[in-house]
Amino acid sequence: MKGIILHGGHGTRLRPLTHTGPKQLLPIANKPMSQYCIESMKEAGVTDIAIIIGGVGSNKVSEFYGNGEKFGVKITYVKQDNPKGIAHAIGLCKDFIENEKFLVFLGDNIIQKNISNFSDEFLKSDYDAMILLCEVDNPSRFGIADIKNDKIIRIIEKPKDPPTNFAVTGIYFLTPKIFEIIENLKPSWRDELEITDALQILLSKNNNISYHLITEYWKDTGTPEDIIHANKSILENYVPVFNAKKESGVVITGDVSAGEGTIFKTGSKVNGPVIIGKDCIIEKNTVINPNTSIGNNCILSECDIRNSIIMSNCEIQKDVKIRNSIISSNSSIKQNETIKEQVFLLGEGTKIFL
Ligand code: G1P
Repeated sequence: MKGIILHGGHGTRLRPLTHTGPKQLLPIANKPMSQYCIESMKEAGVTDIAIIIGGVGSNKVSEFYGNGEKFGVKITYVKQDNPKGIAHAIGLCKDFIENEKFLVFLGDNIIQKNISNFSDEFLKSDYDAMILLCEVDNPSRFGIADIKNDKIIRIIEKPKDPPTNFAVTGIYFLTPKIFEIIENLKPSWRDELEITDALQILLSKNNNISYHLITEYWKDTGTPEDIIHANKSILENYVPVFNAKKESGVVITGDVSAGEGTIFKTGSKVNGPVIIGKDCIIEKNTVINPNTSIGNNCILSECDIRNSIIMSNCEIQKDVKIRNSIISSNSSIKQNETIKEQVFLLGEGTKIFL
């Protein structure tokens, strides 16, 4: 079975974080979110993968994943010039897929479930498609499946009046049958070729679409709040690896991972679950509280951080409480020594709550 990962789009709801690169490369527990998709696919035996790229900084995707060798998979890149929808992106992979069954992952979907059994079942089955559903509180934001007597009877994109709260997750098991439908698909109200519309047509032509309802963690990380939530969930299940140094008088509780070259100075405090990358300096009077991920090469002093993501090469050297925040690489928050005034140099779309 081959795989397709969607890695394009503008990530507008995540600006300014997405001004320099695709949202699927934003780190969750210090790993780009799309890497979780690659790992899930590999676990399910899918190692021949096409990644659809497009939009700002799409070159960063191939720079990170290369030919896939480092991740134990083979990667082919397919360019989507404009974000014309999930079905359009899948349609671009017709030649890559040839005549095989395939697995599609939206690169911004985080799932904490091994999908190998589903993959085995789909390979052995005569299903024309298989989708994974998950119950949500806000069904109008998703594709929704209506079910009667354990059978999917309708699939609708973002319904105003949802018949159920079973969201169609961004993990689709498909067969090449879908390509002909995509070729004849009309754009939706948001001017996209919707995979939900393609699945609905498949269904209306009496094809067999099977499903599984998952109860494990699943998140479509469309907003900063979603990313912070996914970070918390991944950290809660993370098996800690501690390769850092700590001086005497450092208090560490809970599960804390820290990379080589990182040093915890006397008087610092960490309450896991927390992950800290390589070559960081955690100075005295710094408190790192649960559900926090810190990238490589960060210098933290005097600050108190909780439930946040600080990416690589950041300096936070100020008596400041950081909560529910995402701070991009190469950012700094420092004490202004000369004048007691705040100085800001902010990128477009920055949000600050003082
Ligand atoms: C897309 C699909 C939707 C699906 C969701 C899952 O929505 O159109 O059917 O439920 O992904 O993540 P979008 O993220 O484009 O709003």
